[in-house]
Amino acid sequence: MTNKTILVLGGTGKTGRRVVSRLAERGVEARAASRKGAVRFDWDDETTWAPALEGADAAYLIPPTELGSGELFSTFVARAEQAGVRRFVLLSAREVDESPSTGVQAAEAAVRASGAEWTIVRATWFAQNFSEDFFAPSIESGVLALPTGDGKEPFIDVDDIADVVVAVLLEDGHHGQVYELSGPELLSFAEAVALISEQSGKDVVFQPVEPAEFTRALIADGFPDDLADLFAGLLALIRNGGNAYLSDGVQRVLGRPPRRFADYVRRTWG
Ligand SMILES: NC(=O)c1ccc[n+]([C@@H]2O[C@H](COP(=O)([O-])OP(=O)(O)OC[C@H]3O[C@@H](n4cnc5c(N)ncnc54)[C@H](OP(=O)(O)O)[C@@H]3O)[C@@H](O)[C@H]2O)c1
Repeated sequence: MTNKTILVLGGTGKTGRRVVSRLAERGVEARAASRKGAVRFDWDDETTWAPALEGADAAYLIPPTELGSGELFSTFVARAEQAGVRRFVLLSAREVDESPSTGVQAAEAAVRASGAEWTIVRATWFAQNFSEDFFAPSIESGVLALPTGDGKEPFIDVDDIADVVVAVLLEDGHHGQVYELSGPELLSFAEAVALISEQSGKDVVFQPVEPAEFTRALIADGFPDDLADLFAGLLALIRNGGNAYLSDGVQRVLGRPPRRFADYVRRTWG
């Protein structure tokens, strides 16, 4: 599909911008779409959908962040098919069945029900959450307080997600596949933070907190109740050992092991 046009939703985000730059390096026309992207796309403004879709053959999809927005997503998938999109690659979460309220489960159902080729990429927690997303301010402040206890997580490097997504967008043979992606090792948050502290030279510590205390603190910080419950629920899964297993999606798609967390830390803070 190398002479095709590929729509990349969330084109300014952690995975999307990496997908766009990899596609551009291969000479593929990649359309970075988001509210502030090169191509304007807004889930909340349907007038932006058709121009973003025009002429696209394939699409990388990130579901909208609104909780329970399955209907909006399936409407978009139908419009994309009508516009001629023949291949969907959807970013999902490995814990999708444990958190159905996110709308990600509905997004998976929508691409499965489409008449186009589809592939679902289910990722574990991103390593880059520590440097580019919600854990970054805590790392900067020196204390990451979470209710994850000694629970372990196989953080996935977002560069591996982008490599997998690009392969699946460009190669044939991935239709109907669900790839679960994790890093190559299990780490507790205390271990992950210790690696960051050691490499960066910053004094950063992990502080265990009780789940109820954590949820109360989120709500006090202005998080809506449902988002606070969702976040705390996902972290509870880690605390209870529910995420403490490895997945082989990177190896299956790319024929190589995933990047190690320590490599991410060296690239980011070295
Ligand atoms: N973080 C994790 O550990 C993790 C793990 C597994 C799965 N996931 C999934 O990853 C997805 C997020 O992907 P990501 O991390 O690559 O993105 P991200 O870094 O969170 O960035 C979000 C992207 O969506 C765009 N966006 C936000 N609101 C929008 C709107 N109303 N309309 C159109 N675009 C909008 C943003 O750009 P603009 O601001 O320019 O619009 C940005 O490009 C989520 O679905 C999450 O469930 C995350």
